[in-house]
Amino acid sequence: MLIQATLKWSTTLLLACLLAACGGGGGSDGGTPSQPLTGAQLFSQADPAGNQFSCSTCHATSENAQGLDAQQLHRPAHSLLNATRRNAFYNGTFSEVIDAVNNCRVDWMDASPYVSDSNDWLALEEYLAGLSDSGDATEIAFNQVAAVSDFSAADISAGHDLFNQTCATCHGQNAAGTGLARTLVGSVLSAQQVANKVRNSGPTTSSYFTNLSGGNMPFWSEQRLSDQELVDIASYVESINGPQSFSCNASDHPKVGQVAMLSTLSHNVSGRVEIIDNCTIEVTEFNYDGGGPDVLFYGAPSSDYTQGGFAIGDIINGPMYNNDTLRLSLANAQQLDQLAGISVWCRDFSVSFGDGLFN
Ligand code: HEC
Ligand code: HEC
Repeated sequence: MLIQATLKWSTTLLLACLLAACGGGGGSDGGTPSQPLTGAQLFSQADPAGNQFSCSTCHATSENAQGLDAQQLHRPAHSLLNATRRNAFYNGTFSEVIDAVNNCRVDWMDASPYVSDSNDWLALEEYLAGLSDSGDATEIAFNQVAAVSDFSAADISAGHDLFNQTCATCHGQNAAGTGLARTLVGSVLSAQQVANKVRNSGPTTSSYFTNLSGGNMPFWSEQRLSDQELVDIASYVESINGPQSFSCNASDHPKVGQVAMLSTLSHNVSGRVEIIDNCTIEVTEFNYDGGGPDVLFYGAPSSDYTQGGFAIGDIINGPMYNNDTLRLSLANAQQLDQLAGISVWCRDFSVSFGDGLFN
């Protein structure tokens, strides 16, 4: 008892000393004083108080005739080459470049606006002014437009190449994902949903844009992405997004291994149902008195077997089942997508004799 108490006390003392040492450790009071960032750093680094994007995520500093920058990427917004020499910004809304930049900081970077005489702004402004080839500085235009709705002329292979130039900046080559945005492989989005996102993405809190649908991803204007390019890209994303295809004789569907217990509603039905592989379902400890007409196993996407229900295997009424084991085959592996519940179903009367949900 005494020893324990002493130990406890000395541990507490030790901890207190350690904590004190940490707090005042090394005689420095909170790290090295921060060096002012250069304009180039401010352009290419995310703001520590904002989101993951920097100016350079969305703007090139020069582009070739195909709109590609030095990294062969096509950025969502216009190049800033010669931008400080434009007379107006954001389709004539701002006459000072700082106001355009601040709109980007708030809308696209979740960062606070620059104060005009701050070191950071002065350094960035100098950097932007240096991005000049003394060539054309006419104002640019960009229009936010509604998404196309006809995808019949899609060229998926062209869309794949375009994706790797335009969307890959954030979503990665072949949509594998980067630290800026997640992979688009495997999520179920239609070409239409993708196209809507590309044309409307952006914060609903924007004080400049009125038609944004939410999210940090910038929308693409018609000047930066044509409708045909969008059709191709969106169809490519749909093609890698579509429901994964599963085949029989494999066990890679996420529902494999799920179990449903059959309730007893009538005719003494009970049992345990397990999804064995992509196309096989095993019923064990199966009890059923064999009564009723036109009775068979039925799957459905919910516990309502009258909505989207489908037959699994043949009629089973007639014989009596007593702790039996049955194996049922699905018509194809895609049926598993629709299989949330299973019932011993009397099709003639739309009555369940016993059912359960998989989990
Ligand atoms: C997430 C994307 C994104 C980020 C990050 C971003 N911008 Fe923008 N920026 C846009 C979009 C979109 C527009 C308007 C469309 C266009 O330029 O094609 C725009 C417009 C501008 C314009 C006005 C162009 C004009 O002539 O009308 C300037 C200037 C600008 N941005 C500078 C910056 C600077 C500097 C930063 C970093 C502090 C920055 N932007 C960060 C997306 C972004
Ligand atoms: C500047 C970075 C950036 C670029 C470029 C970009 N995205 Fe995104 N995208 C994001 C971020 C971040 C999200 C998640 C937040 C959001 O929804 O805005 C996202 C989300 C999405 C989503 C929604 C995914 C879901 O599951 O809901 C789709 C679809 C999408 N992007 C498609 C594209 C396509 C197609 C392109 C090329 C035309 C593209 N993105 C270019 C950053 C980007």
